[in-house]
Amino acid sequence: MRLLQLSPLGVLPEHQGRGFGSALVQASLEGARDLGEPLLLVEGNPKYYERLGFLRADELGLLPPPEALYDWAFQVAVLSDGVALPQGRVVYPEPFKH
Ligand SMILES: CC(C)(COP(=O)(O)OP(=O)(O)OC[C@H]1O[C@@H](n2cnc3c(N)ncnc32)[C@H](O)[C@@H]1OP(=O)(O)O)[C@@H](O)C(=O)NCCC(=O)NCCS
Repeated sequence: MRLLQLSPLGVLPEHQGRGFGSALVQASLEGARDLGEPLLLVEGNPKYYERLGFLRADELGLLPPPEALYDWAFQVAVLSDGVALPQGRVVYPEPFKH
């Protein structure tokens, strides 16, 4: 099953802290929802992503791929209520493995 992942996400240092990162995340969530995607994955700091609606993925049955730096950094935004989430270990495509 194919899943969407948002990260890596970056804002140029001179433009950080002005809401651009949050706007990019919000637009991505809306776009994925509009496409009918059940979820959006991200690897990043929970302190940043939890306020944008992301939850720790392994607690919902989506286990991080071996390449993920930290289990706690692998997160998921659930985009539709009442849909059973896919369960198991996520596998990154080749470009993500390097
Ligand atoms: C993380 C990043 C994308 C956020 O983009 P941004 O445009 O600076 O973020 P916003 O302006 O929307 O939000 C700023 C808030 O996020 C917090 N924040 C920024 N980077 C953070 C991080 N790595 N971890 C935790 N909080 C972070 C700021 O402290 C600020 O908090 P405040 O609103 O309480 O003051 C950007 O800082 C970045 O490119 N960082 C370097 C790359 C990186 O670390 N990417 C990891 C994500 S995959």
